[in-house]
Amino acid sequence: MLHVSVRALPAEVPAENLATKAVAVIDVLRATSVMATALHHGAKGIFPVAEIDQARRLRQDCDDNALLCGERNGRRIEGFDLGNSPFEFDRQTVEGKSLIMCTTNGTRAIAAASEAKVVLALSFVNMSAAATTLLQTGLDIELLCAGTNGRFSMDDALCAGMTLGLLSKLTNLKTNDLGEVLLKFARQRGSIAGKLRHCTHKVFLEASGYARDLAYCLTTDCVETVPIRNPQGWFVAAGNL
Ligand code: MLT
Repeated sequence: MLHVSVRALPAEVPAENLATKAVAVIDVLRATSVMATALHHGAKGIFPVAEIDQARRLRQDCDDNALLCGERNGRRIEGFDLGNSPFEFDRQTVEGKSLIMCTTNGTRAIAAASEAKVVLALSFVNMSAAATTLLQTGLDIELLCAGTNGRFSMDDALCAGMTLGLLSKLTNLKTNDLGEVLLKFARQRGSIAGKLRHCTHKVFLEASGYARDLAYCLTTDCVETVPIRNPQGWFVAAGNL
């Protein structure tokens, strides 16, 4: 039977057996939504890093004019080419480009999963495609919520619960205690936006003028692209691995 565990925060990722597992990192608002969107619009690959200095150093080593992208406090990092709004990652801007990405929570969560056999980026916008890709790995799964500044975040948790719901329709699975709770939350009546009405990071982004990003990031299955880590550490569209 397939084991699918949900982790509320990167600090909860168990070190043991990670090398035999597939980890889906979830940062709905907005890093993993942005990653799926950028690859959907033809970006060549995305290299996520935890720290701003790492991103700058990596760009110097890249020979093809990679774009630096990411945020601190929701805003574009000084000197970077792009911030962390999915609408900045349109085809005209990113097609054929390599992106080096550094965000407050999302890319740090990806770093926490570095020992896993498979790492991919999951969000509402690519949820069904990502669930299918996860099943195709044949591995036990960790749904890793990025959280916000080290705290539990409801947006990532709801996405984990809904993904569990999709997976449970496709196969027999066993989940952990958090997974059981989130499955129930996901199955309750109500829209995604309604359930996340009081979500702290959603409220913060609203107040920061990102209502359009929220409407997009809280929509399911707008893209079929699943960012997945290749052996060199770049995230590419799953079909191009
Ligand atoms: C993050 O990784 O912390 C985020 O995606 C924050 C954001 O831009 O909303």
